[in-house]
Amino acid sequence: MDTDRVKRVCIIGASGKLGQYMVGHALERGYEVVGVCRERSVPKLAAFEGRMTVVPGDTNDPEVIRRAVAGCDGVLTVLVPWGVRQYASGTAQAVLDHARPGARLVFSCGWHITRDGKDTYSRLFLLGVRIATVLAKLVRAVELDDQVEACRRVFASDTRWTVVRGSSLEEGESQGMPVWSRHVGDPVLAGNLTRRVDFALFMVAALTDDTLVQEAPAIVGCRTPSALAHAEGSRS
Ligand SMILES: NC(=O)c1ccc[n+]([C@@H]2O[C@H](COP(=O)([O-])OP(=O)(O)OC[C@H]3O[C@@H](n4cnc5c(N)ncnc54)[C@H](OP(=O)(O)O)[C@@H]3O)[C@@H](O)[C@H]2O)c1
Repeated sequence: MDTDRVKRVCIIGASGKLGQYMVGHALERGYEVVGVCRERSVPKLAAFEGRMTVVPGDTNDPEVIRRAVAGCDGVLTVLVPWGVRQYASGTAQAVLDHARPGARLVFSCGWHITRDGKDTYSRLFLLGVRIATVLAKLVRAVELDDQVEACRRVFASDTRWTVVRGSSLEEGESQGMPVWSRHVGDPVLAGNLTRRVDFALFMVAALTDDTLVQEAPAIVGCRTPSALAHAEGSRS
């Protein structure tokens, strides 16, 4: 995409931790920003008052999304598996249905999502996902399977999507643009840690990176030992 063509972006899930970082990066790039978040979370965006437009509402409400994405060249969506009412898949579907044709659509999720089944996971990782899925169902607060369904719908769409798959996350100052691979299991990703602020940086940069269209990059922090070893290997 011609980078000049991105002027207005919508951030869905703007009040969360990842969302707020994305709002900051998007404003820094000079984009006009529209954010969607639950009504009760609007105060979390107070620091950006006057610099962005907020559309309050549930992110899986098609009418809320239709209004928010109108005229947007890019849509950044935080896919979260909260609740047991298809929140993530409903959110993804609303974005796929209402974003303007040709808009760049960038979605966030975790490494557990696989596009082609060619990711390889450690036993520990798989055990963690299994335990999280069972516990989540028990407490009826999180529905990991629905994030899988949300991504399945995105992968099947013919839109200009990117699904960014995050490693474990931590807070802290930016270390720079994360590195990525098509598949979990690639040694470059072994560090399995990314600063949230840099996850957001990758999401926003993807808006103008055509090489990421219809890709599902798995990311890791550029200062992790595995990323540094990979960079060193490439140099020599
Ligand atoms: N956390 C991790 O370790 C991790 C690891 C890998 C990938 N990721 C991915 O990174 C992205 C951001 O995750 P995060 O953990 O850092 O969270 P986050 O950015 O803080 O986002 C949480 C989002 O969920 C919303 N939310 C919370 N409770 C909700 C509820 N009951 N109903 C509806 N929405 C609710 C929040 O909205 P409000 O502001 O309205 O509460 C907020 O938009 C996600 O796509 C996740 O899959 C996370």
